[in-house]
Amino acid sequence: MSVGASAYRFESELARLSPRQRRERGVFYTPWELAVAIVAQVDARLKTDFNLPLGLADSATYRSLGTNAPSIASYQDPDQPAIRILEPSAGSGVFLVALLRQMYQNLSEDHLRSNRSKALRKKTWQRFVEEDLPKRLHAIELLPESVPAARETIGQFFKSTGLSAAHSKFVSLCVGNALEPDVHARLGDSATVIVGNPPYSAASTNRGQWIRDLLRGTIEDQSVYRSYFEADGQPLNERKLWLHDDYVKFLRVSQWHLERSGFGVIGLVTNHGFLDNVTFRGLRSQLADQFDRIDLLDLNGNAKKRGTASRLSRDESVFDIGQGVAISILCQTGRSTEKIFRHGQLWGPREGKLESLSNTPWEQLTPELLTPAPPHYFLAPRQLDVSHEYDQGISITELIPQSTSTIVTARDSIVVDTDPEVLLTRIAEFRDRSISDDELRARYFPRPRSSKYPAGDTRGWKLSAARESLRSDPNWKSRIVPCAYRPFDRRWIYWSAEMIDWPRGKVMQAMQQPDALALIVRRQMPPDRPCNFFLAADALTVDGILRSDNRGNETLLPITIAGQENLNRALLPKHLASVNVREIFAYLYALFHSSEFRAHFAESLRIEYPRVFFPEDTSTFQKLSRLGEALLTVHLATSDPPDKNLAAPTRPIAAGHPKWSDGLVWIDRQTPLAEVDSETWLFHVGSHQVLRKWLKDRRGKELSAEDVANYLGVVSVVGKTQDLIQQIDATMKKLGGLHRALGISQVCGS
Ligand SMILES: C[S@@+](CC[C@H](N)C(=O)[O-])C[C@H]1O[C@@H](n2cnc3c(N)ncnc32)[C@H](O)[C@@H]1O
Repeated sequence: MSVGASAYRFESELARLSPRQRRERGVFYTPWELAVAIVAQVDARLKTDFNLPLGLADSATYRSLGTNAPSIASYQDPDQPAIRILEPSAGSGVFLVALLRQMYQNLSEDHLRSNRSKALRKKTWQRFVEEDLPKRLHAIELLPESVPAARETIGQFFKSTGLSAAHSKFVSLCVGNALEPDVHARLGDSATVIVGNPPYSAASTNRGQWIRDLLRGTIEDQSVYRSYFEADGQPLNERKLWLHDDYVKFLRVSQWHLERSGFGVIGLVTNHGFLDNVTFRGLRSQLADQFDRIDLLDLNGNAKKRGTASRLSRDESVFDIGQGVAISILCQTGRSTEKIFRHGQLWGPREGKLESLSNTPWEQLTPELLTPAPPHYFLAPRQLDVSHEYDQGISITELIPQSTSTIVTARDSIVVDTDPEVLLTRIAEFRDRSISDDELRARYFPRPRSSKYPAGDTRGWKLSAARESLRSDPNWKSRIVPCAYRPFDRRWIYWSAEMIDWPRGKVMQAMQQPDALALIVRRQMPPDRPCNFFLAADALTVDGILRSDNRGNETLLPITIAGQENLNRALLPKHLASVNVREIFAYLYALFHSSEFRAHFAESLRIEYPRVFFPEDTSTFQKLSRLGEALLTVHLATSDPPDKNLAAPTRPIAAGHPKWSDGLVWIDRQTPLAEVDSETWLFHVGSHQVLRKWLKDRRGKELSAEDVANYLGVVSVVGKTQDLIQQIDATMKKLGGLHRALGISQVCGS
């Protein structure tokens, strides 16, 4: 049996008629196999962990659970079914049908075991649907348009069991916002089972007071204080948090239901970011505290997060989104003394993942035991723990005390360009009174991001006000300055607070000085990727230079600010106390490019700002510092004047290009642009494959002779970088390896 076509028809129609609503409301329906697997697991937990033989269809009441019943909140009616199921974002009903099907199966198997007649079986099912179901199964959905589709799907299922389609009316489908309190009040008692696939919307529009308070643990009727913004009783102290995503809110609401019921099971499929993203440690600590059994199956499929080499082939999302997802089965028995947390992963093509969900026993899918521990409470396996060694190092943000996040424009396509003239002309249009706001919106903001504001506007930026400020700025032409945009890809930025959301004033000001230099680092480095998230800059630096995503931004550490060196000399070893600051920066740059440093401390580099180690002798320091200086020189050199004699291709970079084959980079099927060996072609800085990215960003454009010269310049920078990395590695090896060269004491067992 499978779910009816109506369940999926609604989504495709919405995708066609209102792609914006679909995006904003995160409407992506669940493949049938996935919903079935989640429901089957929740059902299995009820049968085994709660000793309810009929699982989701069990008729136990709070009262009949008797001594097995965990602390029942005083306001629960003791004669209500103990199994009260909630689907909080029902869409067109895929989970509802999976739930009904499981209940039907459980009841049928019970009848078969007891050898009851077919007629009696049908009668019991009918009575169950008509009398039990309205108290037992509730669903919430925000979009009223999806409710008919859900009713139709449920009706088809009932028909397949011998009832009429009209029986769908016994499933309580409530149109409302599951992140507001009213709809939950309407449902009455809290739920004990929650399943579903909450919306995918990172820029949540649900900012009501109730849900904000719930995330911070400050709502009035909360029995236990649970805040996702704290871990171990301390605020997270993060500059940027990712706790406002809708899925986090749905998880919190689900947890809240079980807090009030005192027991139950949650089965959700959500974004998988919360499993190991550092800023989710408050959330994870709350899950680890409340639940005594947690099963996590990471389905991966994150388009921005490649697998390790062996998995590089093709890792697809089980949904039509580039978002990696995971199944969470969270079980609160309220009486277990032992906690069991398990984890597993699936990689590869979508079909393979769905096939495994249908045919592989759950225990095999989640084979690894986890022991989430402070301070991070990771809910994913970690590699070899070298954190004790790493702790001997000095955090880069203490050594270089002043730092800033990189510039976030919120509208790169308007304020950044490869050509300063084009940028100036565009800004002139914004100043031009003869062009209306509407014309500008149509020209530059064709796709509105939110239904709340006119196209282009956001909460903090309004087109007409920005235009007015631009007009009143007599120095507007002087705001165009060079910037570091992508690795070895300089561009021009219109750097003004009128046009940029986060210009990062003071520190970026320092980056306009002639001798400016800064290291760029990032704390958030995705697992399964080499730790190559380091670069240097000598100009204003824009977010995305190492990795463009929504999981944190880069940190810029300048060498001087307002003429003062930006270095905490008290942290340097004595023998380096009077070394020039540039030499220290160069040394750090070499250290960050050491393959052994990156590999050995990979786990720690992924979760913390880099820590650094200084050698005990000056000669090692100098050797590495000289190599670091060579790297800085290569990375920061502005390219030589372009060779005007270079032939420029006469065709633009074609769709699907650039491509590499046979030692050549091709911009379309016929046109080779440069000779490059495969290692150089594959070279990455952060998540950017440098030589591909440069051309990909110019897709559709015809390259000028100057562009070609610049590109060849980048090819040469990459080649020289590879050579210098090899030299750094060879030097480190000659010095006896990382530990010996830098005097790091090895911790037993690591
Ligand atoms: C990812 S879809 C999943 C739908 C369905 N559960 C399934 O698995 O196919 C998320 C659903 O949540 C609904 N939704 C979005 N925001 C909501 C909210 N605040 N309250 C209730 N439903 C919401 C969307 O309209 C959409 O139908």
